[in-house]
Formats: sequence, structure tokens, C-alpha cells
Amino acid sequence: MSLFNFGNYPITNFGNLLCVAFCRAVSHAGRPSGVLCLVISKGSVSAIIQVENVTKVYQIGKVDVPALCGVSFSVEPREFVSIVGPSGSGKSTLFYVLGGLTRATSGRVLIDGADFAALSDAKRTEMRKRKIGFVFQKFNLLPTLSAQGNIEIAREIAGGNGVDKDLFAEVTQMLGIAGRLEHRPSELSGGEQQRVALARALINQPAIVLADEPTGNLDSRNSEIVLKMLRDANQKFGQTILMITHNPQAAQAGDRIIHMRDGQIVAPELDPQWAIH
Ligand SMILES: Nc1ncnc2c1ncn2[C@@H]1O[C@H](COP(=O)(O)OP(=O)(O)O)[C@@H](O)[C@H]1O
Ligand SMILES: [Mg+2]
Repeated sequence: MSLFNFGNYPITNFGNLLCVAFCRAVSHAGRPSGVLCLVISKGSVSAIIQVENVTKVYQIGKVDVPALCGVSFSVEPREFVSIVGPSGSGKSTLFYVLGGLTRATSGRVLIDGADFAALSDAKRTEMRKRKIGFVFQKFNLLPTLSAQGNIEIAREIAGGNGVDKDLFAEVTQMLGIAGRLEHRPSELSGGEQQRVALARALINQPAIVLADEPTGNLDSRNSEIVLKMLRDANQKFGQTILMITHNPQAAQAGDRIIHMRDGQIVAPELDPQWAIH
């Protein structure tokens, strides 16, 4: 698939390589004698999320608790990546670091090429609001606002000029909450609350959606709705999705699965849950 053009040449994404397809016959004495192909290393050129050797150590009194022990990976725009691993493997810590909600102890996180840690607090907040939509396991809705108010406030916080009515209608329809918008969170089921939370994350059309155990508190029907919406957000709206889960089945919704254990990325066979699965 051609991503964009470099002069007249299509640039193609092959895993870790960026291939400039000089698919032009090299002529020798007027006759075609071969094909010139230039391959350049992609590095961080196109990644929307780049995690470089990130560590995070929590300090509880005099005790150091290592939660991330040198994590590196990158995510391309429009990818849907699942991060799976058992409880305590560092997934939520990674989520907070990626979202700029906490600082890494060492290493770097680049979001769309910008180093979160190097930004001022104000710039980081601004970037987070503009680029990232968050979905949490515990929904985190404001109890005094209706479902509609909870979705609209995300737009206000991001500094948007009111809600795009068509998008609002489309997203709430897709999530099956169009008839529940006047209700407060306490009047909604857990599944409905999470669907409102997902609508809130999507209404700003963020480039990246970060979801931490979005199906962790849901029954299978609501899990399916939420996973389908994440897929749709990825495929219809072109959003990059990074979903964290301890559930190997939910992880299958992603195009690519990264396994974590003990604060590190490991091969699938070293993920104990995956082995059972
Ligand atoms: N705020 C915190 N203070 C101290 N230790 C923490 C904190 N948050 C997480 N941890 C520890 O860091 C490790 C990774 O936790 P976490 O990132 O929550 O993993 P997961 O989301 O995979 O369950 C665990 O050992 C956990 O006890
Ligand atoms: Mg967690």
C-alpha cells in the first residue's frame, strides 16, 4: 500500500522498513537492465507513538518498585495495537506514561515526533487534549452531568467550537446510546457508561485513542460493542488505537499484539496467559 509520494515515487510501508519504490528500469545502452530500489530505514520518521527504552520506578518510602524496565516499541498512524499481559506487568503504568499523565524515570516517549517530557506542563496538557482520547476501565464520568453533558464537556475542555452535530449523532448511534443521552451516569448500566466514555473520547476526533482495560468491567455483549467501536474508530475515522487489556480474547481486536510481563515486552510464549490461551 502506498502511503504517500516522494516526487513521483510511491513510498511503501513494509514493517520496519520504508521503501521508496524506484520501480523504474535502469537502462543500459538504451535497453532495460535492472530495477533500482532504494530502501531507507524508517526509524521514527512515520511513527505516531515512539517509546524508547522507557523505565518507571515508583518509590514507596525507601522501597523502589520497578514497573517498567526498558520498554521500546513504535506504533504507526492508523494501527490498532493491543498490549496484553497479566496483572502487575506494567500496562497501566505504560498507559500513564504514554498519555503524559506521569513521567518516565528514564527513556523517551515521542507522540507525533514531540517528546512529552521536554514540553512544559501547559504544552503537554495542550497536546494531550488535542491529540489523545482516553478510555479508562472505570469510565470516569462526571456524576452530575447527563450522558450528553459528559460527551460535550470533552469538546469544551479541548477548546473546540461546539460539538460537530453530525459526528455526535453518528458516534452515539454507533454506540447505541442515542436514546440514553438525558440520563446521568448513575441511571446508566456499566456498559452504557463505558459507551458514553468512549463517545467522549472520540468526539474530539483525536489522532490517538488510548484505552486501559476498556472492557475490564463489562459483560460480553458490552465488550463486543466497545471493541467494535474501537475497530470502527480505527477503520472509519482513521484513528490510531492503543488498547491495554489483560484479556487475550479482547486483545485479538487489534492488528498487532504486544505482550508484557514484569515491566518488559516479551515474546508471546513468555506471556503466561497467552500460553494458556
Ligand atoms: N502508584 C503506584 N505506586 C507504587 N507502585 C505502583 C503504583 N502503580 C503501580 N505500581 C506497581 O507497579 C507495577 C505495575 O503496575 P501496573 O502498571 O498497574 O500493572 P498492570 O496495569 O499491568 O496491572 C506493580 O508492581 C504495581 O504494584
Ligand atoms: Mg492496569
